[in-house]
Amino acid sequence: MPQSAAHVRPLRRGDLPRLAELRLWYLAETARLEPRLKLMPDARERLTTAVTSWWGEEGRITLVVEDPLGMVPAGEEVPIVGYITGRVSVWPPVWKAQRVGEVVEAFVAGDRRDRGLGRTLLAHLVDALVARGIDVLRAKAPVKNDGSVGLLAASGFEPLFHQLERPGATH
Ligand SMILES: CC(C)(COP(=O)(O)OP(=O)(O)OC[C@H]1O[C@@H](n2cnc3c(N)ncnc32)[C@H](O)[C@@H]1OP(=O)(O)O)[C@@H](O)C(=O)NCCC(=O)NCCS
Repeated sequence: MPQSAAHVRPLRRGDLPRLAELRLWYLAETARLEPRLKLMPDARERLTTAVTSWWGEEGRITLVVEDPLGMVPAGEEVPIVGYITGRVSVWPPVWKAQRVGEVVEAFVAGDRRDRGLGRTLLAHLVDALVARGIDVLRAKAPVKNDGSVGLLAASGFEPLFHQLERPGATH
């Protein structure tokens, strides 16, 4: 697959509106694959608030990737076309692996996929989590999402848990 030089950098405050837009695309795509994850009509407004809370959140790492094909006049920002977010969680001391580096969410805009951007984002996040002294890395992926599972498998992740679900009411 073609590879482009990817510029991955930490999230900046000025990225928040675009990050909310990318995150809406991510969730809408997931909802198309899995109707049980359908979005509410006011999801857009809520997502703007939600990503704003990522900014400066203790323990969270959010990285973005700039458009490798982006041509902008000097002095203007290159648009971002993908993001990844993760955090360190500490599990109770009954487990040997307590410091867990969670890969929470990753997204690359549809027309910029298959260029290695997802893999590069994940590699940068893994480096940042490892630098924080994690024992193990974990990620949650929707079962109907081949890209997510494929990306994680290509980076050495293997299935650990099955998360099962059923409707609450049966009558
Ligand atoms: C998953 C996603 C981030 C991958 O981004 P990308 O930039 O296209 O990924 P890359 O080009 O870096 O691909 C890296 C590896 O992931 C795997 N992969 C990527 N897309 C895949 C797909 N649709 N099916 C199976 N494997 C896939 C491949 O092994 C690929 O390696 P290869 O190029 O050597 O074959 C992107 O498809 C996406 O945003 N999907 C929707 C949201 C999502 O699923 N997010 C993940 C939640 S953790």
